[in-house]
Amino acid sequence: MNSNIKNKNIVLGVTGSIACYKSVMLASLLVQQGANVDVIMTPSAQKFIQPATFRAITRRDVVTDFFDANSPLGLDHISLAQKDAVIVAPATANTIAKMAHGFSDDPLTCTVLATTGPVIIAPAMETHMYQNFIVQENIQKLKENGFIILGPEKGYLASGDIGVGRMTEPDEILEHLNVVFGENGDFSRLRVLVTAGGTQEKIDAVRFLANRSSGKMGYAVATAARDRGAKVTLITTPTNLEVPKGVDTVFVDTALDMCQEVKSHCAKNDVLVMAAAVADWRAQKSVEHKMKKGKQQVWNLEMIRNPDILTEIINEDLFKVGFAAETEDIIENALQKLISKKLNLIVANDISGENTTFNSDENEVYIITREKGKKLPLMSKKDVANKILDKIKQLLAK
Ligand code: CTP
Repeated sequence: MNSNIKNKNIVLGVTGSIACYKSVMLASLLVQQGANVDVIMTPSAQKFIQPATFRAITRRDVVTDFFDANSPLGLDHISLAQKDAVIVAPATANTIAKMAHGFSDDPLTCTVLATTGPVIIAPAMETHMYQNFIVQENIQKLKENGFIILGPEKGYLASGDIGVGRMTEPDEILEHLNVVFGENGDFSRLRVLVTAGGTQEKIDAVRFLANRSSGKMGYAVATAARDRGAKVTLITTPTNLEVPKGVDTVFVDTALDMCQEVKSHCAKNDVLVMAAAVADWRAQKSVEHKMKKGKQQVWNLEMIRNPDILTEIINEDLFKVGFAAETEDIIENALQKLISKKLNLIVANDISGENTTFNSDENEVYIITREKGKKLPLMSKKDVANKILDKIKQLLAK
């Protein structure tokens, strides 16, 4: 497992909203990622969910009041304050007001007041309550004091209405926590530009030529770099993947658009990772309207070369990483590309026969520099991404 959350000590504060059923999932995800989770429940949260639920998931006692000598607080009312992070999810208007004004009359607000680590707050409430200027003022005050506020989101509410007020989903909270813990990581001084997906070359108003790239490898690199503290920009074609939180994302369709965006961003970056599958060809003339078939049996498309983006980027200060999809002589062909495109590093895939990596969550790659090539075993694309970043770090340090 490659997560910033592993072995972290986290306090999960649960307050009295129907959304506390989602905190159960959040607690479970945190535990699955290897965190030690202490749950503090307010009295009204206990009206919705029993402490036993969290006790079973976290395998720890749950704090429910100040004066229980057997609780994890023991006799020290702030013993949970110096953990790695506090998450308050769901956070009701009442607890938000108390946190904004420094109240400490229950174990949760007391812990929040005494903590020096990051505090993530996920509000959940009825839309009008959330929009009330007093609640807005309290949230603003918390933001100004460094609290991280996530959501609330728009959607179906317990009242039956559709509106703003839903607690942010547990997996999104987890993603933000990963980013928070990664902020001082080994890439925190670096700006990384990543391209992903397969370009789409228009041939008429409704059709385009595409390729089999899913974008997964590029998204994995962008996410891993973000989780190691880098400032990441992702230039991507439309894919089925969720855009990673905290990453500046630019959408493009064609190779020409991608080329233009890479050129305009690369001066502001230290590293370029070209994971996109860029079409080498585009239609010389795309038809403006929808091409009608009529009686026509053949459609001859004349194709012309697209620019090679990596070759066009001439910037001595930029560390350039390319990918090579090869069916034979993997290392020799990839090395040729490394030299001709003036790359610092190339990551090669064998895509012959059954070996295709397209759309897979795993990849078997060679990491190749001018000096040597190394084959890595089959691993998740996330792990491959981290191996690539390790190599970049090692070469940049030279
Ligand atoms: N690439 C690029 N611009 C292009 C085509 C590819 O910048 N017009 C980049 C890819 O993003 C990848 C690397 O070049 O990082 C190699 O891509 P690949 O398709 O394997 O190689 P090609 O250079 O297109 O060579 P060939 O098709 O002959 O294998």
